[in-house]
Order: sequence, then C-alpha cells, then structure tokens
Amino acid sequence: MLRIKYPFGDMKIDQNHALKLNDVLLEVQHRRLREMRSVLFDPSILEKMDENTILYSMYKEAMLDGHKPLFREHRIRFDITIMEPIYLGKEFNKTLGHRHPEALNGLSYPEVSSVLQGHACFLFQKMEEGAPKEFRVVHAEKGDTILMPPNYGHVTVNYGDGMLVTSNLVSTEFKSDYGGFLEKGGAAYYILKDGSFIRNKKYGRIPKPIVSRERFHVAESLYADFLKDSDRFDFLNDPTKPVP
Ligand SMILES: [Fe+2]
Repeated sequence: MLRIKYPFGDMKIDQNHALKLNDVLLEVQHRRLREMRSVLFDPSILEKMDENTILYSMYKEAMLDGHKPLFREHRIRFDITIMEPIYLGKEFNKTLGHRHPEALNGLSYPEVSSVLQGHACFLFQKMEEGAPKEFRVVHAEKGDTILMPPNYGHVTVNYGDGMLVTSNLVSTEFKSDYGGFLEKGGAAYYILKDGSFIRNKKYGRIPKPIVSRERFHVAESLYADFLKDSDRFDFLNDPTKPVP
C-alpha cells in the first residue's frame, strides 16, 4: 500500500493499482505492455515479459467532489499517474508519448505536471514538417513542477527505482494524440537504465538533447494553488496568455 498526502485528504494506492481519495475509489485506465509494443527500444522483451503487465495507471479527474464545479468552470482537470518501477529490457519504464492538438494561433494546449513521489525524466520534442527540431530533457523529483509547453510532444520516464507518482493540470477541451509516437516507434531518443540516450533511427537527423532545469512555480501544490487562484491557470486553455 502506497500512501501519499493529498491536498485536503489522503491518497491510498494498493498493489492492484486501486486508488482511493479519502476512501473514494477513482476510475482507472491502465497502460499495459502490449499497447507499448511499437514504442519500445527492444520489442523482443514481449517474448520474456507478460504482455498484460501494467506499466502505468492513469486516474483522470482525480478531484474531490466538492472541488469539481470549480475545475469544470475553468475547463481544467487534475489527473494522477502512477508508474511501476520496472524495466523494459534495457530501457526505463515510460509513457507511450503523446501530443496535444492546437488550441489557438498555432499553439497547442500546454500542461503542468508535478512529481509527488519518485524521480521523473520528462522528454519533450518539437516537430516541424515531420522532422524533430528540438529535444529537451527535464529531470524532476518529489516537489518539482514543470511546464509542458505548447507544441512539444511528451514522454514521462520513471528514472528511479521506485514508484513514480505524478499529477497534472490540463485542459478538458481536447484528446491526446498518440499517433506520431506510435508511427515513429516512440520518441526521438530512448533513455536506457545506464543513463545513455539512443537515437531512434526512424526520425532521421535528430538534434542533440538539451537538458533544461526550468521549473513552474508552485506555492503549495498544483491542486491547492488551483483552488486558491484558478485564473492563474487560464493559459492551459489559452496558450497565447503568458505563463504566470
Ligand atoms: Fe499531455
């Protein structure tokens, strides 16, 4: 059983990935190994591992009932993701990867994500005319919050040897697009357990990874900050607004 202090309550996650917020069971969506086949560095691991292995679990709209009207009024939701400390062969466990669609003026919806437990490595890639123009890497640990800027596809890697738990605030107005990552066999680089970056040959020429330490300022927690000043997060639906 994993327990995490949640703003205004407690979060409990059992071995079967059932997550309770103040004893209310949340709806869950699991990502299993078989769905990740085409984005793996080494797809042959499917011969050695159970294809139904849960790699990560997503809990969308992980808000307490009393707070839901405020979130909905702002067209923003709060999600939790937990990621198993397992290895995909030589590779760290990771999310499938996705992009957000355009919100306004050629800018896609941004997102903010906090690490509640563990060590994450966020990968961001910007594509232009089908080719990668920029590849960014951001390491984040418990208490760190980062901005996923418009027009960057993203992958979250569990860079540690424990469970990774992240939360995020994002617009409710779109559906994530997994297509690009599925077609290209994942992100432009694979991150292996020895820390090395291996180029994904399906991308052709790839710029060198840029390591960024940029943080999004959070006073208490993403959730509590949203409740205190929800207008601050209007940029999640209108990326032409400056990020405060
Ligand atoms: Fe996202």
